[in-house]
Amino acid sequence: MTAAKRTLYLTTPIYYVNDVPHVGHAYTTIAADALTRARRLAGHDVFFLTGTDEHGQNIERIAREKGISEQEHCDRIAAAFRELWQRYDIRYDRFIRTTDLIHKRGVLRLWEKLRVAKTPDGRDAVYSGTYSGWYCPRCEGFKDEEELKQPGNLCPDHERPCEWTEEENLFFRLSAYEGWLRQTIESDTLRIRPESRRNEVLGVIQQGLKDFSVSRARVKWGIPVPEQPDHVLYVWVDALSNYITALGFADDAPDYRHYWAGGDERLHLIGKDIIRFHCLYWPAILYAAGVPVPTRAFGQGFITREGRRLSKSTGNVIDPVALVERLGPDAARYFLLREASYGADWDFTDAAFVARYNADLANDLGNLVSRALTMVARYCEAKVPPRPAPVSTTALQERWKRFLQSPEAAGASSRLKAFEEVSGSRLFGEAASELLVEHALARYEELDFAGALGEIWALVSSLNQAIVQTEPWTLAKDPARKGELDAFLYRLLEGVRVVATLASPVIPRAAARIFSMLDLGEREPGADDLAWGRLESGSRLGKVAPLFPRVEKANDAKETPVSETTPPSAPKPALPPSEAARLSAGEKIDIAEFAKVELRAAKITEAEKIAGSKKLVRLQVDLGGETRQVVAGIAESYEPQALVGKTIVLVANLKPAKLMGVESNGMVLAGAVDGNAVLCTFDSSVAPGTKVK
Ligand code: MSP
Repeated sequence: MTAAKRTLYLTTPIYYVNDVPHVGHAYTTIAADALTRARRLAGHDVFFLTGTDEHGQNIERIAREKGISEQEHCDRIAAAFRELWQRYDIRYDRFIRTTDLIHKRGVLRLWEKLRVAKTPDGRDAVYSGTYSGWYCPRCEGFKDEEELKQPGNLCPDHERPCEWTEEENLFFRLSAYEGWLRQTIESDTLRIRPESRRNEVLGVIQQGLKDFSVSRARVKWGIPVPEQPDHVLYVWVDALSNYITALGFADDAPDYRHYWAGGDERLHLIGKDIIRFHCLYWPAILYAAGVPVPTRAFGQGFITREGRRLSKSTGNVIDPVALVERLGPDAARYFLLREASYGADWDFTDAAFVARYNADLANDLGNLVSRALTMVARYCEAKVPPRPAPVSTTALQERWKRFLQSPEAAGASSRLKAFEEVSGSRLFGEAASELLVEHALARYEELDFAGALGEIWALVSSLNQAIVQTEPWTLAKDPARKGELDAFLYRLLEGVRVVATLASPVIPRAAARIFSMLDLGEREPGADDLAWGRLESGSRLGKVAPLFPRVEKANDAKETPVSETTPPSAPKPALPPSEAARLSAGEKIDIAEFAKVELRAAKITEAEKIAGSKKLVRLQVDLGGETRQVVAGIAESYEPQALVGKTIVLVANLKPAKLMGVESNGMVLAGAVDGNAVLCTFDSSVAPGTKVK
């Protein structure tokens, strides 16, 4: 029997659907995805949950303003989140929405337990009382009088007036759990990191915890309290419960039992803004209900611009769509996780993004891969050279262990680099990779993404230096040194493979492409790939294709800085540059890539030239029950009235873009014949909306 794998249940906050996603949401979700992949690489059994927080007064207000139902609004925004995660190559195991039935049923089951729960000193954990206080409808929370900005009793976060509220509410007796919470956090039974966040939470306990109300009278869009149907459950009780409802808490489902109740690790990634809810309210609620509590919480830092918080009202937002489109998902993921320590606040700049991309991805990694493969193509007929006899790593491992205890190691930004210097040994070959594997996985485990990547890049630079020092081109001139050359190149390729494996949690696409070039199949590396010497001698390497083509500086006219919301008049290229380069190199795409493009038959019902443009025409098209506006650059080839009635082929799932200020929701397909557009049509009648395959 094989031993059961260690489990990790990993969650992001569920994001509010007030608005489309922003870069802070992407930051947490990318970190969770990278950690999931890293822990799977380490052989663990991981379940990764994300989702959306959809109830509350804000949603009622926004839906009313838009003139649509709350559910419709939530559906739209939840879809935008899912679409964004797809672009970032996020692979969650489940996407929970608080409007899902499984969630509502789970919340009610938890509520049943809370209603009868007793505090450690034997009182009811939930009791009725009168609440009075300053309520901010935007925060959906009460504020202490001293927090308010004067004059006007303004919410300190939203700068809008708070309302004095008195209502009969049900309360949760948080104050009765002070001792238990302190002990749970101090003993690291609930391990809160970074340390500063742990101290902050202990500080809050020290000041004394107040009971909080768990029902709301004036909110309709929520889960009604069974014993008081004119109240809904407090939005935070509703929201926090997602972590267990998503696993099937309502039915004591196998996933719930495996990953939560019987799991080894239950880890919440959160921003520092919501640490109190997760580290005080949530554990106390669960403990009261007799449900196991989380084992870890990590509070990530906040991304700022020019030192200020990101906010639409001040205009300093970072558009996560523009960010991923600029240089592709790997580049965005790498930058966000490499640029700063995960727990710290940091300032985003376009220049830093481009500089990191060029230095680390295009130069260091890109050059290493292309040099290694080109040399093998040139000197070994593009086949993996014979595997050299393994070298014993015991002595180096011993020195490494001693080094890790030394002060030099403690102060080093890259321990592998520092070790190289202290020990005088080049990090090359099996020993280096073994040290790196263990060390990088440990850094990931601690959510030290920048640290893990720093160590992996120490090996990249070591491999690059080894090429310069060994001069394989000189070895190649001397047939007597063929064995030496082969051994060097084998180790170099293995180094590349180990780098791709260890970096794959952060840059999964590039890793899969490196694997494909190494004839290992275009696949995600797995735990088996960590061992040294996996490359099969004699296997044929693929064509060397550029991984990360260099780009010019941030304000290159061709590119839009990502720190501005994508201007509608400058539609982005459909593919990130690295993808585009690959395709223009004549490579084939697979059917799955093609399947991402949704082609449909569309009937033109209206057409008119766009004022001020020679080329553009505005079309209304019928997609079979749906009418769309599309802008097409065909005005020089067709008179508008000749277009009406034609059934054409439309790319139906393009993101909206504005052309000459007119919104376009799709793209019309046409051939270019001597500079004229010739529309793709059908040779017999096809109903509008029909899928084109
Ligand atoms: N819905 C609640 C969470 C409920 S969890 C049971 C919520 N949603 S939110 O949409 O406001 O998302 C908050 C989270 O987004 C933060 O905790 C953090 O993970 C992320 N970020 C939001 N802005 C951020 C930055 N500027 N920088 C980094 N992350 C930030 O709160």
